[in-house]
Amino acid sequence: LKHVTTLSALQTVRSASQLGNKRVAFVPTMGALHDGHRALFEAARSVADQVFASVFVNPLQFGPGEDFEAYPRDLPGDLQRLEDWGVEVAFTPSPEVMYPSGHRTYVEVSGITEDLCGASRPGHFRGVATVVLKLLNAVRPSLALFGEKDFQQLVVIRSLVRDLSLPVEIVGVETVREPDGLARSSRNVRLSAEDRLRATGLYRALQAGKACLEGGAEKPLEVMQAVSNALSGDGIEPEYVALRRFLDLGRVRDLKTPFLVLVAAKFGSTRLIDNLILRRP
Ligand code: PAF
Repeated sequence: LKHVTTLSALQTVRSASQLGNKRVAFVPTMGALHDGHRALFEAARSVADQVFASVFVNPLQFGPGEDFEAYPRDLPGDLQRLEDWGVEVAFTPSPEVMYPSGHRTYVEVSGITEDLCGASRPGHFRGVATVVLKLLNAVRPSLALFGEKDFQQLVVIRSLVRDLSLPVEIVGVETVREPDGLARSSRNVRLSAEDRLRATGLYRALQAGKACLEGGAEKPLEVMQAVSNALSGDGIEPEYVALRRFLDLGRVRDLKTPFLVLVAAKFGSTRLIDNLILRRP
C-alpha cells in the first residue's frame, strides 16, 4: 500500500500507473472502514489492475450541528485494512489539501438533491458533489465505486458525471448487512446497545414493504403504509419513508416497474438511512 497525503504525491503514483497502462478503480471513503467498504474494494479489484482509495472526512458535506467532529475516525486502522484488502494506493488528504484558502468553487446538482436526505441536510449533496468531482479529477480512475446504501448520493454522482461529461464509469455496489439485517455503516458504532437493537426495525420495515408488494399491493400508498406501520410498530419515528424510481428518484406512480423504498430515522443523535429495490414477483 502506498500512502499519499498530497495532490503532487498522488499525481506521481498515478502517472506511474498510467505509464504501466493500468486500469484504475477508485473507492472514495470517509474512513472508519468496515465490511461494507470491503465489498466495494472487492468489486473494484475484480474489474481493475490497480485499486486506489481515499479516506477523507469531508467537512463540506456536514451542516452546522451535524456530526463532523463526532464522525468516527481511525486512520491507522483504515490503512491496515486497506493493506489487508490488497489496495495499492491510499490518498488521505487534510482539509487544507482539499480546500486550500481561497477555495470558492462548488458543484450543485439540482432537482434531485432538495428532498429525501437533502431536506434535512441542506448543502450536503453540494459538499458531496464538490468533493467527489475534486477526487475524480485528482485520481482520474476508469471506474469509481459507491455503495447503494447511500442511493440518493449514487444518483447524484451519476448525474454529476453525466452532466459534466466526466470520463469515468460509476458502479453501484449492493448494501452489506449485519446478520440481523442492519445495513453496515460507519455510524453504527455510535449506537447505544438499545438503539442498535431498535435500528434493526429499519430493515424489518423495508421487508414489510417487500411483503406487501409481493402480497399483491396495487398502489404505492399501500406499500408506503406497510413500511410506515412496521416502523411505528417498532417505535421508530421516521424522518422520511419514500418510494422512488431508482434511475432519477422520481415519484412512483404505479408498481409495475421496479422501484426503491427508502427510509431515514434518528436513533439518539445518530441518523441512519436504508433502502431496498422492490420488484413485483
Ligand atoms: O459515501 C461517502 O463515504 C462520502 O459521501 C463520499 C462519497 C466519500 C464523499 O465524501
